Amino acid sequence: MKALAWHGKGDIRCDTVPDPEIEDGRDAIIRVTACAICGSDLHIFDGVIPSMQSGDVIGHETMGEVVEVGADNKALKLGDRVVVPFTISCGQCFFCQRGFYSGCERSNPNAKMAEKLWGHSPAGLFGYSHLLGGFAGGQAEYLRVPFADVGPIKVPQGLSDEQVLFLSDIFPTGYMAADFCNLKGGETVAIWGCGPVGQFAIRSAFLLGAERVIAIDTVPERLALAQAAGAITLDFLKEDIYDRIQEMTAGRGADACIDAVGTEPDTRSGFDAVIDRVKVATFMGTDRPHVLRQAIHCCRNFGTVSIVGVYGGFIDKIPMGSAINRGLTFRMAQTPVQHYLPMLLTRIEKGDIDPSFVITHRASLEQGPELYKTFRDKKDGCIKVVLKP
Ligand SMILES: NC(=O)c1ccc[n+]([C@@H]2O[C@H](COP(=O)([O-])OP(=O)(O)OC[C@H]3O[C@@H](n4cnc5c(N)ncnc54)[C@H](O)[C@@H]3O)[C@@H](O)[C@H]2O)c1
Ligand SMILES: [Zn+2]
Ligand SMILES: [Zn+2]
Repeated sequence: MKALAWHGKGDIRCDTVPDPEIEDGRDAIIRVTACAICGSDLHIFDGVIPSMQSGDVIGHETMGEVVEVGADNKALKLGDRVVVPFTISCGQCFFCQRGFYSGCERSNPNAKMAEKLWGHSPAGLFGYSHLLGGFAGGQAEYLRVPFADVGPIKVPQGLSDEQVLFLSDIFPTGYMAADFCNLKGGETVAIWGCGPVGQFAIRSAFLLGAERVIAIDTVPERLALAQAAGAITLDFLKEDIYDRIQEMTAGRGADACIDAVGTEPDTRSGFDAVIDRVKVATFMGTDRPHVLRQAIHCCRNFGTVSIVGVYGGFIDKIPMGSAINRGLTFRMAQTPVQHYLPMLLTRIEKGDIDPSFVITHRASLEQGPELYKTFRDKKDGCIKVVLKP
């Protein structure tokens, strides 16, 4: 089959690789009808995710048709149309039982490696390094789905691939970011990053009752899309973000601040962003947390900082003094996708939101390597790429 494989920093190729096979009775194989490139894939593309190996098949936003089902899988049958969560979860362990699917303690075969870095291992993820299981990803013609009797969600007739594909990741992730803010109605939520995740966070914050959303980025078409959703937009290259948020909130700060940027902020974001860049380049640090620092400073006393942008390792110069003295709450996670799926599917069916609004580019798998560059460089108005194998 054809699949997108990582061969080193900035080197993604459309390779021919062996078709996946059923390895466990609960598995299923799906023929991929649509998959997407995520901002998290850019961290792989940029070479900042450790434990990738040349030839690893990547991608974790995938849907398709079931073409093979393991003997013990009673939930799926041939021909079912499903969306596959990016988190691989057994459905039965301590964490899965409590709804913390991305903390599944059974789905990462390389848990020992993750424990060394993080103390404990989270769930395995599709196409996201050997640290997170070494599972082949879904930017491919076919995908093996482990624990396929609990993960994938069946798509009701009448909904197109483009309407449901983002249930695999960015819709639940943006929704979780807003959910973490514990909104009661009437709040001001500031959101850093108007990439696909930020866009879903903006719309979800409104769905959950925010009165005002302040959306921060610098890319014109991304700011425009945020504005179309009703957000007030700020350009971090043109305005002082802290001053502007102070002005808008009677000097108090935003009720909640969402970091939807993560470890690779624009190097032009500020002085500390440049220092972080140098530190990472010289192996003096692992992450570049400029946005997290700014989100903490811009959050009001006893407000919430909700982190969905990905960080990998050890983070330097975080203003914990500010956070503890002012009573901030921190929430963060790789999204426990399965926890949010049924409810978000209902929201799509009811017409609360049509997730396809974010798509700007549609292409074949063969065009994938080129579109990784377009998406990374934010060229050609690119906000979200969908590949159709
Ligand atoms: N927690 C999860 O489960 C989960 C799931 C999906 C994605 N993510 C992460 O969410 C983040 C965003 O993903 P995406 O797909 O939207 O990626 P993206 O790269 O398309 O978007 C990031 C945006 O941040 C903007 N940005 C850069 N510096 C900034 C700054 N200083 N202030 C404000 N904005 C700035 C960029 O211009 C860009 O538009 C990534 O880190 C990704 O890994 C996390
Ligand atoms: Zn993702
Ligand atoms: Zn589990």
